[in-house]
Amino acid sequence: MTDIDHDTAHRLSTERPEDFWAALAELVHWDRRWDRVLDDSNAPFYRWFAGGKLNTCYNAIDRHVENGRGDQAALIYDSPVADTKRTLTYRDLLDEVARCAGAFASLGVGHGDRVVIYMPMVPETVIAMLACARLGAVHSVVFGGFAARELATRIAETDPKLVVSASCGIEPNRIVQYKPLLDEALRIANAEDTTCVILQRPQAQATMIEGRDVDWGELMAGAAPAGCVSVDATHPLYILYTSGTTGTPKGVVRDHGGHAVALTWSMKAIYGLEPGEVFWSASDLGWVVGHSYIAYAPLLAGCTTVLYEGKPVGTPDPGAYWRVVDEHKVNVLFTAPTAFRAIRRDDPHGEHVGRHDRTSLRALFLAGERCDPATLEWAQQQLDIPVIDHWWQTETGWAMAANCIGLGLLPVKPGSPTKPVPGYDIHVLDEEGNDVATGDIGNITVKLPLPPGNLLTLWKDDEGYRRGYLSRYPGHYLTGDAGCFDEDGYLSIMSRIDDIINVAGHRLSTGAMEEVLASHPDVAECAVVGAADTLKGELPVGLVVLNADAKSDHDTIKVELVTLVRERIGPVAAFKNVVVVKRLPKTRSGKILRGTIKRIADGAEHKIPATIDDPTTLAEITEDLTTIGYPRAGTPSGNM
Ligand code: COA
Ligand code: AMP
Repeated sequence: MTDIDHDTAHRLSTERPEDFWAALAELVHWDRRWDRVLDDSNAPFYRWFAGGKLNTCYNAIDRHVENGRGDQAALIYDSPVADTKRTLTYRDLLDEVARCAGAFASLGVGHGDRVVIYMPMVPETVIAMLACARLGAVHSVVFGGFAARELATRIAETDPKLVVSASCGIEPNRIVQYKPLLDEALRIANAEDTTCVILQRPQAQATMIEGRDVDWGELMAGAAPAGCVSVDATHPLYILYTSGTTGTPKGVVRDHGGHAVALTWSMKAIYGLEPGEVFWSASDLGWVVGHSYIAYAPLLAGCTTVLYEGKPVGTPDPGAYWRVVDEHKVNVLFTAPTAFRAIRRDDPHGEHVGRHDRTSLRALFLAGERCDPATLEWAQQQLDIPVIDHWWQTETGWAMAANCIGLGLLPVKPGSPTKPVPGYDIHVLDEEGNDVATGDIGNITVKLPLPPGNLLTLWKDDEGYRRGYLSRYPGHYLTGDAGCFDEDGYLSIMSRIDDIINVAGHRLSTGAMEEVLASHPDVAECAVVGAADTLKGELPVGLVVLNADAKSDHDTIKVELVTLVRERIGPVAAFKNVVVVKRLPKTRSGKILRGTIKRIADGAEHKIPATIDDPTTLAEITEDLTTIGYPRAGTPSGNM
């Protein structure tokens, strides 16, 4: 269904969702067809394609080999940091994934078992994910930039049969030894007996624990290939943890059937790709963008996916993206606006852009954070192709609002991710649950049922799913974002309504950082806000009030706090700015005025809240923030 326009497809999807999705389900191979397209018998926990049976790995690999794509490149690994390139055809990938599945099965992994994957950006990560899918096991990939404690939480929550890891990740400024972090995480999670498969990379040698740890290379060498296990369409494919409003991350659960259908269709409808074309999602496999658009969707659609282990700048220069586009003839590129801000900072006049052949590149898609119009316009100017902002989140797994080039490119409006994607009935609601007037800002919701590919629930926490997403407006899914529609039906995303911030496209919870700061013995109370940053969009800033008997050396306390967040959450939190304050501005009922603190840090206009307990705290905070350089010059005023 790509030969119709965006609005017609959208109307069809909301008026006759079952017909719409039944037609699109023909894009994938089913071992058994479904009994019901949409099972609403346990609403609001809807299920798509109930009664159907299929296997995601079969649809992503085997089917293409059987249909004559065996010699086509399936995955191109390009790593400037490891100085390695490797192409795997669909036939190569089938061989590796089938043997990996056989190896995992020999270690006892079967249908429904969980496998935690804590890996860098190497082909073995995709191979391990697909091997789990092949067996009907449930993978949970953990981003390499998280600290041992975050990994431990995910291990404790998922209780894995197996952990798959590597000796190291490679950051431009250092080798990140994974094994000590993994051993520490297993200790914290009381899971030290869990079998671990470790990929030894040449850059670091992991110390193996005799009798528990298994060498990836040795295991695969002796493994017999395993076939695909046919699973229920509603069977979980993976769990992916994301930041919630507390220190405890939320395990988003995705299924096989709906996910395969939605993602396969999205490649053509949203990104305009044909089988055999090259798609590059410059993200990380640890995030949802990496799951959906490095690993699954390009392969489901018979495309070639590029797996890039490097940065937009510094590996070795701001021409890195254009070198990859040129070398691998990338047709569509997907990345985060922050990557373009970094490239623009280092190559403002696009000198590197001009050094490479970019004729293969048809479109650039941006997501993960608000795309400031200046970045979008710079990219458009440099590349002279459509630059498309699109909006989605870990929970949805694919875009909720986009300019779907496969359904006919609509005019681009900088600052807007265009219109709701077919399948998503998006509303902007006021506090009482009424649709707001055009142009007015409200809470963005999706009317239930969510389309296929979205979260089924939170892992072992149906009640948390209901409470966090479904209870605020019965019959609607609460996205956590606020925004508005314009007169043309274009959506704009303005801000989060909770404590989530977006740092270089990485989703983080300020609440989780506050929990870490509060655990320091000298801290009486604290607040963390996301202040605007020209490169990363937002950066966390911590304000701490110390106990009366705290040690007097504030600099030492500040260093300890920065170290604590790095150790507990990870370097990815980029928590480096903290200031000691006398007191925090609060309402008369004792609520910390974080919104006002953020506006002061951003140098934005702010009213004195009517409910404030003592207005003089605002002047104090303003002065305290200047000591650490806030407000900063030239920060984007986008996020409110
Ligand atoms: N493993 C270990 N550490 C990691 C890591 C990983 N996979 N990824 C990031 N880190 C570390 C970095 O080394 C850095 O550590 P440092 O404080 O010691 O320097 C810290 O986490 C912050 O990393 P990052 O946010 O990547 O900032 P940066 O300054 O290194 O680079 C950009 C800035 C803009 C170049 C970078 O953020 C980028 O490429 N962003 C692309 C965005 C993206 O892929 N988003 C995914 C969603 S689409
Ligand atoms: P994540 O779950 O990490 O993908 O983060 C999802 C959140 O990132 C969304 O809820 C938004 O707050 C933000 N986000 C993602 N894409 C966009 C976009 N195109 N514009 C504005 N915000 C975005």
